[in-house]
Amino acid sequence: MSAGMPGNTLCFFINGKKVTEHHVDPETMLLSYLRERLALTGTKYGCGGGGCGACTVMVSRYRPETKSIFHHSANACLLPLCQLHGAAITTVEGIGSTKTRIHPVQERIAKAHGSQCGFCTPGMVMSIYTLLRNKPQPSMDDITQALAGNLCRCTGYRPILDGFKTFCEESRCCQTNGDANCCLNGVKNGTETDAVKPQLFNKDEFLPLDPTQELIFPPELILMAESEPARTLSFVGEGTSWVCPSSLEELLGLKARNPDAPLVIGNTNVGPNMKFKGVRHPLIISPTRVTELFQFSQTPNGVWVGAGCSLSELRSDLEKLYLQLPEEKTEVLRVLCQQLGIVGSQQIRNVASLGGHIMSAFPNSDLNTVLAAGNCLLSVVSEAGGRREIPINQDFFVGLGKTALKPEEIILSLFIPFSRKGEFVRAFRQAPRKESAFPTLTAGMRVFFCEGSRLVQDVSVYYGGIGPTIVSAGRTCGVIVNRRWDEETLNRAYDVLLEEADLPPSAPGGKVEFRRSLTLSFLFKFHLEVMHKLREMNVIQDEPQEELQPLPKNIQPSLQEFEAVPKGQSQQDPVGRPIMHRSALSQATGEAVYCDDLPHTQGELFMSLVTSSRAYAKITGLDVSAAMQLPGVVDVITAKDIPGKKVRTLMGYDEELLAEDKVLCIGQMICAVVADSRSHAKRGAAAVKISYEDLPDPIFTMEEAIEKSSYFEPRRVIEQGDVSSAFASVDRVYEGEIRLGGQEHFYMETQSMLVVPVGEEKEFNVYVSSQWLSYTQAAVAETLGIPSNRINCIVKRLGGGFGGKVTKPAILASITAVAAWKTNRPVRCILERGDDMLITGGRHPTLGKYKVGFMNDGRIVAVDFQFFINAGCTVDESVVVIEKMVLHMDNIYNIPNLRGRGSACKTNLPSNTSFRGFGVPQCLLIVENMLTDVAAVLGHPAHQVREINMYKGPSVTHYKLTFSAENLHRCWDECKLRCEYETRRRAVEEFNQQHRWRKRGIAIIPVKYGMAFAEGFCNEGKALVHIYKDGSVLVSHAGTEMGQGIHTKIQQVASRELQVPSSKIYISETSTSSVANTCPTAASFGSEANGMAVKIACEILYKKMEPLRKKYPKGSWESWANAAFYEKISLSAMGHYRGPDTHMDWEKMEGMPYSYFTFGACCSEVELDCLTGDSRTVRTDLVGDIGRSMNPSVDIGQIEGAFMQGMGLYTLEELKFSPSGLLYTRGPSQYKIPAVCDVPLQFNIYQLQDSDNPHAIYSSKGLGEPFLSLGSSVFFAIKDAVAAARSESGLVGPFVLNSPATPDKICLACSCPLTQKVPTAQPGSFKPWALNI
Ligand SMILES: Cc1cc2nc3c(=O)[nH]c(=O)nc-3n(C[C@H](O)[C@H](O)[C@H](O)COP(=O)(O)OP(=O)(O)OC[C@H]3O[C@@H](n4cnc5c(N)ncnc54)[C@H](O)[C@@H]3O)c2cc1C
Ligand code: FES
Ligand code: FES
Repeated sequence: MSAGMPGNTLCFFINGKKVTEHHVDPETMLLSYLRERLALTGTKYGCGGGGCGACTVMVSRYRPETKSIFHHSANACLLPLCQLHGAAITTVEGIGSTKTRIHPVQERIAKAHGSQCGFCTPGMVMSIYTLLRNKPQPSMDDITQALAGNLCRCTGYRPILDGFKTFCEESRCCQTNGDANCCLNGVKNGTETDAVKPQLFNKDEFLPLDPTQELIFPPELILMAESEPARTLSFVGEGTSWVCPSSLEELLGLKARNPDAPLVIGNTNVGPNMKFKGVRHPLIISPTRVTELFQFSQTPNGVWVGAGCSLSELRSDLEKLYLQLPEEKTEVLRVLCQQLGIVGSQQIRNVASLGGHIMSAFPNSDLNTVLAAGNCLLSVVSEAGGRREIPINQDFFVGLGKTALKPEEIILSLFIPFSRKGEFVRAFRQAPRKESAFPTLTAGMRVFFCEGSRLVQDVSVYYGGIGPTIVSAGRTCGVIVNRRWDEETLNRAYDVLLEEADLPPSAPGGKVEFRRSLTLSFLFKFHLEVMHKLREMNVIQDEPQEELQPLPKNIQPSLQEFEAVPKGQSQQDPVGRPIMHRSALSQATGEAVYCDDLPHTQGELFMSLVTSSRAYAKITGLDVSAAMQLPGVVDVITAKDIPGKKVRTLMGYDEELLAEDKVLCIGQMICAVVADSRSHAKRGAAAVKISYEDLPDPIFTMEEAIEKSSYFEPRRVIEQGDVSSAFASVDRVYEGEIRLGGQEHFYMETQSMLVVPVGEEKEFNVYVSSQWLSYTQAAVAETLGIPSNRINCIVKRLGGGFGGKVTKPAILASITAVAAWKTNRPVRCILERGDDMLITGGRHPTLGKYKVGFMNDGRIVAVDFQFFINAGCTVDESVVVIEKMVLHMDNIYNIPNLRGRGSACKTNLPSNTSFRGFGVPQCLLIVENMLTDVAAVLGHPAHQVREINMYKGPSVTHYKLTFSAENLHRCWDECKLRCEYETRRRAVEEFNQQHRWRKRGIAIIPVKYGMAFAEGFCNEGKALVHIYKDGSVLVSHAGTEMGQGIHTKIQQVASRELQVPSSKIYISETSTSSVANTCPTAASFGSEANGMAVKIACEILYKKMEPLRKKYPKGSWESWANAAFYEKISLSAMGHYRGPDTHMDWEKMEGMPYSYFTFGACCSEVELDCLTGDSRTVRTDLVGDIGRSMNPSVDIGQIEGAFMQGMGLYTLEELKFSPSGLLYTRGPSQYKIPAVCDVPLQFNIYQLQDSDNPHAIYSSKGLGEPFLSLGSSVFFAIKDAVAAARSESGLVGPFVLNSPATPDKICLACSCPLTQKVPTAQPGSFKPWALNI
């Protein structure tokens, strides 16, 4: 069949079905093809740049040479459709479905509670599915490797790992007693009673994995691969053509005629450049069928590998090779394999090619420094010049992304030499996250010794990440060569290296001092490793020094302990049981529908936003003419088009929907382009020309705002006691401060909306990913100048919200509605990840200052706090965030004289908004840092200072709210007991005495979190329940499902109250036409308020059915429901829960802003590499007082997810702004949220038993937010470890460690001798690359 196929026919398979395409736009990626063309929306769009894994699919190909089928995972967002000729693609829809049979991978992630919002779930499923296709019994390491590139913002990964662990051979071992002490070996297991403890899931129920059930590789593709004659494939698109030559000659000819055309294999560099930087390529050459690029051949001196090989294949081939060779020959090969295993994620490595990597010439490449240090060679070829060999060295890389290759030349292959006896090669990297992250600094180092001696014959040291190209430290090597390998030589080398690897203080990328310090640390590490090798070989007999081990990484079994339901509770009653998220299976099969999964309708348009490129300026011109000329562009929406109100008013301040005259930040929306497709709208937006006139003195930092008194009013103060005079009576006074960076919500589903004009009387359906539908409804109505009754806002589920979808969707939906109204067509707006990060703001960066007075025994007598948050350019909810901070400034401490002042700084940055915890996570860190400082001043253990100051018994807060501190103490005591605090504290001290370069730290942190909105009107819950004639029940309520399991809990409530099985109850969506005037689903209060409303509605209905139950005592639920119809009993009821009437009088500084408190305590232990600042959380034990849990699996999921988000906030996630106010960090490549590699190795969660809460439904407690703050236990454990490192340098007492405690801050704070060698640039003497906002 294929022999006659013309050269512009693309043939491949998707989920077993053949696809033939004749007209393919080379810019179409598989992801948009799946989602938009085939309506296979299970594969998700999370970032578009290979950084999140939401779009993971399996690619299978047949290899005629080996007659084998090869499967690998890949990111569909970077896979050009044109590349897929002959491939079989499997998506999440192709492996299982709730309609037929779910796949064991889908079942296990769902039933192990590994799917919350579910947006990441299909990607997770496909990563593991692919792994199992290649290795049906993987190791735990295989699982974590396969998931390293799949981000999840909800779960904290533990349940995902637990679910997938069941596929591992080793999961049959309990490992509770450590690796070697499995209960299966007969060693007594310390937790024998576990058998009777309730479990979150039962793995015995899982379907077995049966590889024979999988889709077979299409025989037609095998035939095609075997028989298809070599022919050129070519496709022509709107702006780009694609040619896939069939021979080397043809390739060279093409390259000679089109020297600027890129060769695309993995598309992991070319693709993101086209998408994010707007780079255009009229022609793309795809050399995937040029066999010479994929060859592997061994010579006596080394091995030649084809430049087209993927990084994964290369690693596997090299691994096979080095296992057969004598060890001394394998130094370069081994180190290269190590590095090949760490580049990006598995999805990236599976497609990225060696040649593409080298030619991308990234300055911080993981491979190029090793290739250079290892004396590797390239074989390059061109039509006119023929073949030549060139070394990879400093002369090869000539600039950022540039090499010495001539434009018409291509890399054919790479030669990797075998090492010699006495030669050692090592590579080092330090990255913002341990895995799936481009490194900050890399190094490749090689040394060759004269035989049997420590005399250096040859040495080579390369660094990546200290300039536009990799750098050879030639002068440093000059100091080392012909000298003895010892400390004296190395000490001389450091001084030269410091001069040689210099970086100006304003160098791009920032972190200059750290990067310089790392250059020394890496050399020192190399020194230690080589010394160790020389000793091992008996070349030297020097005193052994500390051997540098990598940080621990093996995930241990964890505990999730929760209360069993009371004895005698009906089996049918689901309340209190670990019920799976009600949509988990739909999410795992890709059937769950999110806003952008809604089918496209006739005439639908797409909207792309145009935002300001200036921070503070007058708009002097807006020219849309060029945009309007572009294909597909239909209209440009400006402020003038808004028929109704042009501003949103919040806290008395107006915020323009679209800027008209003036812009207040980079990223402010100015206009929007609507076009017939996403790409046309994007191109149109790029063509809009805006001219500006800068206004003077923009304000970016909190310090600048303080200096200029630039605040949003009101500012808030609470004071109890007499703070000023109390300072006179204390033993000691200490003043300190700490700052926290902001945090991006990074919900996996970006802001999404679809506005559909219904056709008559100005009526619109607004599908919107919003946490507050009524607010969005009101905003759209006001903007269009029509009443709210014409707007129906609908949401089925959100792919995560975390507070970022409370206010922001209202503005975006309003603009989209204007476009829909003006064009009278449906308009869809799905923000690109970068635009979402730029436009919508996040958690407020915070500056906390304190003056604390205390006694020598640790009692704190007086504290004066000042809180500043960077609100950005509009008020949004900033004042309320400040209020919550001031209300939580006591955390759990009874401080008799306490004053806190809070101010929201008005700056020219994008406006920040609510974020899970709403100011408490920032406040808690400031308070606990103050406690840590007090302990450090006194030289007391921090936990003792905490204990001495805690509230005890019946207590009163600083705003005069009474509460009992009993459960707080129970949490604290139980946490100390469970984590064996005292014993482990001593073990940490012992470890620190034995290790100079690695340190451990441990910290235990408590939290008290006020529940409910302080604004009483927000605490309402509403529901509408219908019972149909067949007995099925439809529940609608005001809360939105965003992964937190609200619908699951509501279903449990209805099931209990109506006494029917959960299967009878359905929750379709949340909509303003079912339930009106809703409150935001936020403040951890959604399930509680709406659960009560549903309970009330169900009670009404249950009562209404009472006469029928009496009349037909032998009847069934269905028969009563049916009878009700004929007896004219209405089985529809509204439930209204008024909620607590919370209030706060800011004048009197007192009130009852909360209904009750949720308490918790958490202990974390970390291990640090002081030389690089890398850290690993080795164990976390968290005790949470969550009352009587309505659903332990959902609640434990919330606790773990919140903890991990907090850990991200305090230790990992860093927003960076340029000096002109531009957000640099606009995607997962630059902004790192926690990944699988960040999960505490042991992560134990314990529910506090026997805790009742009379204030909430079924005695439960709100818990979505409180435990986020406990991520700070990792921060304080790091601080504890840093203190141990500092003491080695004679530094004791309090010190500043700002949040997030990223490796650079940790490393510099450790103040090791090498770090101390690096001079600090004088602040003010240079313009830093990034602002300290
Ligand atoms: C999410 C993500 C994470 C990453 N993480 C890391 C990381 O941690 N560490 C790291 O070092 N790198 C990382 N990378 C970079 C990645 O390794 C490179 O993008 C990749 O290796 C490039 O290979 P490719 O085949 O995709 O190149 P393509 O994008 O296909 O091509 C890149 C360039 O190479 C040229 N080219 C390709 N082959 C040849 C040839 N044979 N001869 C001449 N020119 C050729 C092309 O013309 C083009 O200009 C990451 C990339 C992404 C997207
Ligand atoms: S959408 Fe493809 S990796 Fe994020
Ligand atoms: S469940 Fe993973 S992102 Fe929501």
